[in-house]
Amino acid sequence: MAEISIVQTPAHIRMGSSIGQPLTRREGVLKTTGAARYAADNHPPGMVYAVLAVSSIARGRVTALHVTAAKAHPGVIEVMTPANAPKLALDPDAKLHPFMFRMDLLQNDTVRYANQPIAVVVADSLETATEGASLLAPRYQAEPARTGLDSADSFAPLAVGAGSPAQESHGNLEAGLAAASVRIEVIYETPAQYHNAMEPHAIVAAWDGDTLSIDTPSQGMAMAQARIAGLFGIAPEDIHIRSPFLGGGFGSKGLISGPQILGIMAARLVGRPVKLVLRREQMFGPVGHRAPTRQTMRLGADDQGRLTALSHHAKTATSTFDEFIEPAANASHALYASPAIQTSHEAVRIDAGTPMFMRAPGEAPGSAALESAIDEMALACGMDPLAFRLTNYAEVEPMSGKPFSSKALRQCYEQGAKRFGWATRPQAPRQMRDDTGMLVGWGMGTAVFPALMFQGHARAVLRQDGTGVMEIGAHDMGQGAWTALAQIAADAIGLDPDQTEFRSGTSDLPDAGIAGGSAHTATAGAAIHDAGGDVIAKLADLATGDQRSPLFGANNAGVIARRGRLYRRDDEARSESYADILTRAGHVEIEGRGTGASDPATLSAYAMYAHGAVFAEVKVDPDFGQMRVTRMVGAFAAGTVVNPRMVRSQYYGGMIWGVSFALHEAAVMDKRTGRPINPNLAEYNVPVNADVPNIEAILVEERDVHVNALGIKGVGEIGITGTVGAIANAVWHATGVRVRRFPITLDQLIDT
Ligand code: MOS
Repeated sequence: MAEISIVQTPAHIRMGSSIGQPLTRREGVLKTTGAARYAADNHPPGMVYAVLAVSSIARGRVTALHVTAAKAHPGVIEVMTPANAPKLALDPDAKLHPFMFRMDLLQNDTVRYANQPIAVVVADSLETATEGASLLAPRYQAEPARTGLDSADSFAPLAVGAGSPAQESHGNLEAGLAAASVRIEVIYETPAQYHNAMEPHAIVAAWDGDTLSIDTPSQGMAMAQARIAGLFGIAPEDIHIRSPFLGGGFGSKGLISGPQILGIMAARLVGRPVKLVLRREQMFGPVGHRAPTRQTMRLGADDQGRLTALSHHAKTATSTFDEFIEPAANASHALYASPAIQTSHEAVRIDAGTPMFMRAPGEAPGSAALESAIDEMALACGMDPLAFRLTNYAEVEPMSGKPFSSKALRQCYEQGAKRFGWATRPQAPRQMRDDTGMLVGWGMGTAVFPALMFQGHARAVLRQDGTGVMEIGAHDMGQGAWTALAQIAADAIGLDPDQTEFRSGTSDLPDAGIAGGSAHTATAGAAIHDAGGDVIAKLADLATGDQRSPLFGANNAGVIARRGRLYRRDDEARSESYADILTRAGHVEIEGRGTGASDPATLSAYAMYAHGAVFAEVKVDPDFGQMRVTRMVGAFAAGTVVNPRMVRSQYYGGMIWGVSFALHEAAVMDKRTGRPINPNLAEYNVPVNADVPNIEAILVEERDVHVNALGIKGVGEIGITGTVGAIANAVWHATGVRVRRFPITLDQLIDT
């Protein structure tokens, strides 16, 4: 195959040393001192408070609301219900493209899920609005709620996730199973998980005629702008979104949610700026969640322990009124080299809010099942789990046959195993105890996540005083994106970071593309790199075309940009500062523009993924089944490491979510009412410090010249994948009990 590279010979070399440095977060001091202004910290003059009233039934109609009682409460300004909600320019149930999620915006009295907004109370304080909302005392005509994966007939979805096929296969599965000398069929279950970023969804909305300015956390300001523009019938450029800080996003702030739109509607209704913040329990309904799954894994292997067949079928749930299908089975597409692979999905419609992207959508529950099943298969073949994986990992992408753009999985296995001490692991379970008598188990899992890119844009400016500016409406959810992007920006224009002003966080700047799919640094970074290249090329033209410049005559490709000067490549003694070039040319500033996106030719030639291997140790009380993860080592290869401190931190975060998924997190639905019974952070368990063990993340070196000009792959989501399986496999190794229902709880260990 022809070598296709999107790394083009640059018109000039920009030398930078900022990429690769472990800089601390740019906004770290602001955040730790409380000076960072999050959406809900804004108080424009005249602002009033909106509080949602939400449904306590999951299906039916609202038959009565005591609007008069609420309005009579001192301080209450208005009660917004279907009777007086502003008319929208677009039906919120209209779906013009797959990324348009349906919303409940008080268009009628129907209730489609528990905690659905049914009214909004606006008052002069949070307290009076809250009291007003409680006075509404809704009455309902309720119908039986459908909850769980067996509550309705299932259907075969046309597409899953963000629009990928619901069924895929290569090879002959039945033949592969028939040819196998070892076969297993196992069923894994994962629960519903609800988005609980530290910062709940919040908005401060202010109208000025038909111009709207809002403060709200967003992972995708341009998409939010377009969605709001459609609903209110105004131009996107008349909507100004400020989103400088997010207290976590994880997918829930990728698309603007119904409650945020309700805040904008309330502001329109009362003619004043309105603040609306979700209460914690209101996160359990209208803002998306990770759907539950039941995954059937069928695997076959020959007597050498080579996979002959891999079938991954995922049943999941979606809402009665929208289409998001958790793409869990797709986790089996890219990892293991079975000659026959089949993945498929089915779904039921239940009375719940529509599921949505949650960190590593598809891959998180899918790899939990896959990596557990691979462990079961290794055992059935009598092989060490690492040896089994080394035997079976794919050398080309199994479903497509494409080569990987780069793949350092073997190095991840080797470096992780060495650091963890895997070689001394006894193969049989229940062989290790610590000196307090706890059962000790070691498990592992493979991590994989697609290296995606969306489309982003950036604007670069060089100023006469020798400083530079990079503008991009990028999103920092807390992951350190701005820090990494500012490093890329400094290198892109050949300046030190402190000479480079980095502007971000509002929709008035060039659209950086959505911060999701672990693609933000790659997308926005490529746009920045491109914009820097554009402005430096203009600067070089000014110098090389001017007889008074020491660079005269060097063509553009003959110039190097470094620390505020252009140098002749063939004679670095000849150089000139940006400031001198611009001053002589009489320019106050010059600008360049750039775009970041993946190259279609490269995309069709290569399969692009980040890889990793996770090793976990658990200790289990032999009498009571209480579990602790005591040690984890992850080794990950994801291309260029822009900032090792931020990257490591992303891996830690993902691995901690893996602990959460494996042992803690589940939303429990009341089967009688369809309501979540643990909609709070006291009973919806997530790991606290005491649950988080010693974690190490090894940054395995990888150079990928195909994925994008900077060689960057994403690091935000891969940490969950592999980790869940590693912990589950360690629990088996400690106890000899294979738990196939997540989260793994002590009752499941004791029962058996
Ligand atoms: Mo992520 S679930 O793509 O924000």
